[in-house]
Amino acid sequence: MKKILVTGGSGYIGSHTVVELQNAGYEPIIIDKLSNSTEAVVDRIERISGKRPAFEKVDCCDLEATEAVFKKYGDIEAIIHFAAYKAVGESCSIPLDYYRNNLVSLINLLTLMPKYGVKGIVFSSSCTVYGQPEIVPVNEKSPIVPANCPYGNTKQICEEIIRDTIASGSPIKSILLRYFNPIGAHPSSLIGELPNGVPLNLVPYITQTAIGIRKELSVFGDDYNTRDGSCIRDYIDVVDLAKAHVLAIGRMLDKETEKVEVFNLGTGNGTTVLELVKGFEEATGVKLNYRIVGRRAGDVEQVYADCTKANEVLGWKAETPLSETLLNAWKWQLKLRDEGIM
Ligand code: WQD
Repeated sequence: MKKILVTGGSGYIGSHTVVELQNAGYEPIIIDKLSNSTEAVVDRIERISGKRPAFEKVDCCDLEATEAVFKKYGDIEAIIHFAAYKAVGESCSIPLDYYRNNLVSLINLLTLMPKYGVKGIVFSSSCTVYGQPEIVPVNEKSPIVPANCPYGNTKQICEEIIRDTIASGSPIKSILLRYFNPIGAHPSSLIGELPNGVPLNLVPYITQTAIGIRKELSVFGDDYNTRDGSCIRDYIDVVDLAKAHVLAIGRMLDKETEKVEVFNLGTGNGTTVLELVKGFEEATGVKLNYRIVGRRAGDVEQVYADCTKANEVLGWKAETPLSETLLNAWKWQLKLRDEGIM
């Protein structure tokens, strides 16, 4: 079985991707420093797939410790690099931590890959690179605009580091996956999003409000120039997103392609915050307390994907209806309560 190193593999998107890699016959190896996840996720992955992935508690910023993992597992074919800090607001208050963590981890991996014959790296990028696009939906040729937060800037810089490294002659390939808004949880309710502290993202805040952990959801503005005044995003099911990574690995390893490829991963549909709230209530039958408040600094008004390229070239399409995704998110929140975790 082909070994795939999954950095950040015990995290939200990483854990769902490890399951899909196993389902597709790969041998994922998780490397994670557990700054935003727990090793219990590895047990849950095993309960879902019946196969326990290898796990190494290692910080990718530690070159020596990371190299030891490459040595230990020998023939790693490729890497999926999720490990990064990713909170937009937090990145504004501790930018140096974000630049150090997100850039040094990637630089270490790129340094080690040629030495150990690793053929390629799938990089977890983000639609934040597009900022507030002039035209929506955005495709991969849409302009990259200066990031409005250090988090988004690290994504842009990492894409450039990969391009420059490959342009310099490094014998590796890369696929950059620009996620829109990942939401939901595995249908088994064994893995899902587990935010530390007060959730910054919309859907975990919704499910925590619905279950009573939070008093009410604040909707950050209804005075935008959209159909109902609230912001538009492209919410993509986390399992659909995970499956795109498996296809990207297959394409990168088995096909003759450009050395660097970019794909937008979204549904192609824009959904407003108020539509998502209504969709949650309809999908779950749970009434949601919410209040319209002022805009949140840094929010773009609307961004959603033109994912024609992923559909036609990667052979991938988001399949899960939004209602099912929201119901899975709710079932996960209920499970967390049943297990006394939250
Ligand atoms: C979505 C919409 C908010 C919370 C960020 C990153 C992106 C990715 C996903 C990492 C916005 C509104 C939110 C709340 C609200 N992160 N909202 N009340 O900001 O689109 O994207 O997270 O990969 O890279 O940029 O996601 O979920 O924070 O917000 O009204 O309590 O929900 O204003 O319009 P965002 P989000």
